[in-house]
Amino acid sequence: MLKKIASARITQKSSTLLQELNNSLPFDKILYQEDIKGSIAHAYMLAEQKIISKDDYIKIKEGLLEIYQEIEDGVFKLDGDDEDIHMAIESRLTEKIGSAGKRLHTARSRNDQVALDFRLYVQKNTKLIASLLLKNISTLLKVAKESSDILLPGMTHLQHAQPINFGYHLMAYVSMFKRDYERFISSYERNNYSPIGCAALAGTPHPINRAITAKELGFIEPTLNCFDTVSDRDFALEILFNISTLFVHISRLSEEIILWSSSEFRFITLSDRHATGSSIMPQKKNPDIPELLRAKTGRVNGNLIALLTVMKGLPLAYNKDMQEDKEGVFDSIKTAKLSLRVLNEMISEMKINSKNMEKACMIGHLTATDLADYLVKEEGIPFRDAYHITGNVVNFAEGRGVDISELSLNELQSIDSRIGSKVVELLDNRASMNARNSEGGTSTKQTLEQIAKIENWLEDRLKD
Ligand code: ARG
Repeated sequence: MLKKIASARITQKSSTLLQELNNSLPFDKILYQEDIKGSIAHAYMLAEQKIISKDDYIKIKEGLLEIYQEIEDGVFKLDGDDEDIHMAIESRLTEKIGSAGKRLHTARSRNDQVALDFRLYVQKNTKLIASLLLKNISTLLKVAKESSDILLPGMTHLQHAQPINFGYHLMAYVSMFKRDYERFISSYERNNYSPIGCAALAGTPHPINRAITAKELGFIEPTLNCFDTVSDRDFALEILFNISTLFVHISRLSEEIILWSSSEFRFITLSDRHATGSSIMPQKKNPDIPELLRAKTGRVNGNLIALLTVMKGLPLAYNKDMQEDKEGVFDSIKTAKLSLRVLNEMISEMKINSKNMEKACMIGHLTATDLADYLVKEEGIPFRDAYHITGNVVNFAEGRGVDISELSLNELQSIDSRIGSKVVELLDNRASMNARNSEGGTSTKQTLEQIAKIENWLEDRLKD
C-alpha cells in the first residue's frame, strides 16, 4: 500500500463516494508519460536555477525513469486510491527516493502540472492524427489517379445531374482532408507554448526560469499569462473541434461508400475484410465499417459539446470542473486514430466497378444541359427556348426508353430542325465530362492537374 500525500488541511479520511467522484486516476493514468517527462524538465530547471541541488535533481530524474519502467512493465499498476496521476507518481517517487522526492513540487502546482501534461498529450496526438491524415490523402490520390477517366453520374439532391469522373469525386474528399490536416497543424502551432511554472494561478516567488522548461519540452516559449494558462482549455476544444470536422467529412465519405456498395449502385465492392455477414440472411454482405465510421461522428460531436458546456461560464482560474476535460478528449483521439487507420485500409482495398459507374451515366439524360448550352452558343437560340427544346428531346428519349445520348441526328432534328450534327458528339457523356475543363472542373485533364498539385503538396509535407 502506497503512503498517500497527506493534505495539510483535511484531517478526516475522504468518503469512499467522494473518492469515486473526485479521483481522476482511473482515466488520467494515460498521462503518465507526459507527467514524468514534465517533472524531469521541471526538476532540471529547478537545479539549473539552484532552487534544488544537482544531487536531488539526479535522484529525482533516476527515480522518475524507474517509475516509468515500473508502469510500462505493469509493476506499478496505477490502480491505488491516489487522487490523480500527479499524486500517484509523486507519492511513488517519495517512497523510492525519500526527501528529494518531496522537493519536486517546489514552484509548481497540480494546476500548471495538469495543464502541461494534458497539453503535451494533445500536441503529441495532434501530430499523430495529422500524419494518419496524410496517409489517407496519399491513398485517395492513388485511387483518384487510376480513376480520372472513369465516368459516373455527378449528383445534386442525390439525383443524377452531370457526368463527372470518379477521380474528381474522390478529389473532393482529398480537398476536405487537406483542410483538416491544415487545421490540426495550425492548432498545434497556436498551442505550442509551455504552461509549466505558472504554479497555482499567479506565478511563484521562486527564481524559476520558464524558458528552460519550455525549451526542454519542445515548446516555442512559455505562455504569457499564468492566470489564463491554468484555466485555458482552448487547446482541448480545438482538437475536439478538429476531430468533429474531420468526422463530418469521414461520415459523408462513409455514407457514399455505403450507397455505392448497395445493390442499387454497385459502384464499388468492399473487400470481404471490411464487410460482415448477417446472422440470419446468408446472402448478405453488410458495410458495417463505413456505418460505424459514420456513427462515430455522433460520439465525437458529443465530446466537443460536452467540453464546450463544461468550460462555459467558469470563473477564473482553475476549477475542478476542468477535470471533466479529459475523458472526451481521450475518447475522440482514440476514435480518430483507429477510424483513420480503418478508413485508409478500406479505401485501398475496395474494388471499383467502373462498368457499373459508366452504365449509370446512361440514366437521367446527364448531358441535357450540354444540349441547351449548345443551342444557345452555336444556334443563337434564346436560353428559355433552348430549355424547352431540350425538354422535348428528353421527353422524346423517355418515350423510346433511351438516354438522349443514344438518339440519332435524324431523331434529334425531327424535334427541332435547328439541331446541327455537332450535337451528337456533345451529347456523349465522356465528351461532356471533358468539356468541363475550367479550373477546378471535372475534365480528366483538370482532375489530373488537381492530383498533381496535391501530390506536390504531400511531398513537401512528408519532408517536414
Ligand atoms: N486531477 C486534476 C484535474 O484533472 C488535477 C488538478 C487538480 N488541481 C486542484 N487544484 N485540485 O484537473
